[in-house]
Amino acid sequence: MENNRGQWASNFGFLMAAVGSAVGLGNIWGFPYKMGSNGGFAFLLIYLILVVLCGFVVMLGELTIGRMTGKSTVFAYTELSKKYTWIGFMGVASGFVILAFYSVLGGFVTKYFISFLGEFLKLPFGFNGASSGDYFGAFILNGPQTVIFHLIFMLFTIVIVMGGISGGIEKFSKVAMPALAVMLLIVIIRGITLPGAGAGLAFMFKPDFSVFSNPEIGFWKVLRAAAGQMFFSLSLGMGCMITYGSYLSKKESLERNAVIIPIADTIFALCAGLAVMPAVFAFGLEPTGGPSLLFVTLHEVFMSMGVIGPIFGMIFYLLVVIAAVTSSISLLEVCTSYMVDRKTLKGEKPNRKRIALIIGAIIFVIGLPVALDGLGSPGAVMEGLVFGKWIWLDFYDLLSEGIMMPFGALLMCLIMGWHIKMDRLGKEICVDGNSFKSKGFIDICAKFITPIIMIFILVTQVMSFFGA
Ligand code: PHE
Repeated sequence: MENNRGQWASNFGFLMAAVGSAVGLGNIWGFPYKMGSNGGFAFLLIYLILVVLCGFVVMLGELTIGRMTGKSTVFAYTELSKKYTWIGFMGVASGFVILAFYSVLGGFVTKYFISFLGEFLKLPFGFNGASSGDYFGAFILNGPQTVIFHLIFMLFTIVIVMGGISGGIEKFSKVAMPALAVMLLIVIIRGITLPGAGAGLAFMFKPDFSVFSNPEIGFWKVLRAAAGQMFFSLSLGMGCMITYGSYLSKKESLERNAVIIPIADTIFALCAGLAVMPAVFAFGLEPTGGPSLLFVTLHEVFMSMGVIGPIFGMIFYLLVVIAAVTSSISLLEVCTSYMVDRKTLKGEKPNRKRIALIIGAIIFVIGLPVALDGLGSPGAVMEGLVFGKWIWLDFYDLLSEGIMMPFGALLMCLIMGWHIKMDRLGKEICVDGNSFKSKGFIDICAKFITPIIMIFILVTQVMSFFGA
């Protein structure tokens, strides 16, 4: 492997970085609410089946393609065949679009962390008695503030990626992920010991198989919710795991890593539910999903905890910042590694720091409309897309999570099953004495089962955006 590219110093470091990429805002604001409102345990069952049939398959495929070619997304696909190069570019484009909105949201979380810090230290940058709804409403309409926090978050991401693979991403993730687990545990313990927390546990976990026959929800809707969630949450379909896999030593077991990452991601998602839902119910609030859960409902939850509230609020939002940063660095790395590999292949010496800075700056600009449209609130500096009808965040999300990621994963699966085929895949997986235990299973999934599910996700996501 070329020295210019870098390599993970240890498998543990790789795992922390990969799990860090997977665990992010998707786990915290997406999973708990989706699970609770789509049949609890019934949703979890479907989610787990999808993780096995799609998540594991695509994860193993991406990691293997990355390590086999030793290159990041675009060049990895080119090495398989020149006609696939554009699939790699689609991944890089997804990286640009996702990070553009992710960084704005990361900025929101940073702002809340700082406000809780101010509240805790009784400094003027606390909430100053504002209600949670008013505070959020005023913040998202405050253009300079949303832009500054977007900038701070992006700079943080850039600095880590500038440090390189083992010296930046791995070093940060190795400390950040265990710290995140500890903080999550603290918030969970507080949440589930509150009086009335049981209702939240029931909301999350109570098996309600009647959702499948409920005319309002139904089986297909549950499947759609679970499938969309899984893809985004596992950082699949846009070459992130190809890129991370390309820095992995031949000694490590790809199969084992492809099992561990989805399991860890699911455990974190369930823990996020435990940290959030019991507390929401304990204070008699209505559970929601998306930004309003994270910024309105949870703000109210922590403020209702009395004197200790700001401490738990601070820990919680710091935990979310960390979860978001370990994801955002993987997104920036997908884009940065393209330029690093491009220069390296041309025989030039890439300047990683400069590349990360320039790409980060471009993504910052792409994110500005998301920071300035006030999530579609009237009175924002900028309007939403098409006469203000579509919120920029939703539009970027549709482009990436809705279209490019499932499409990328679908094509990756087909290439894996029909072009690379199991023998070649197995050769890479079995290098250095590892075995390929799931060969038969992967073969059937990559050729037929996973692509069918992917097509379903793709069609339903697009239809739901257009209101069908
Ligand atoms: N998996 C991250 C989350 O759950 C988001 C992400 C998507 C990160 C794609 C990298 C690549 O928030």
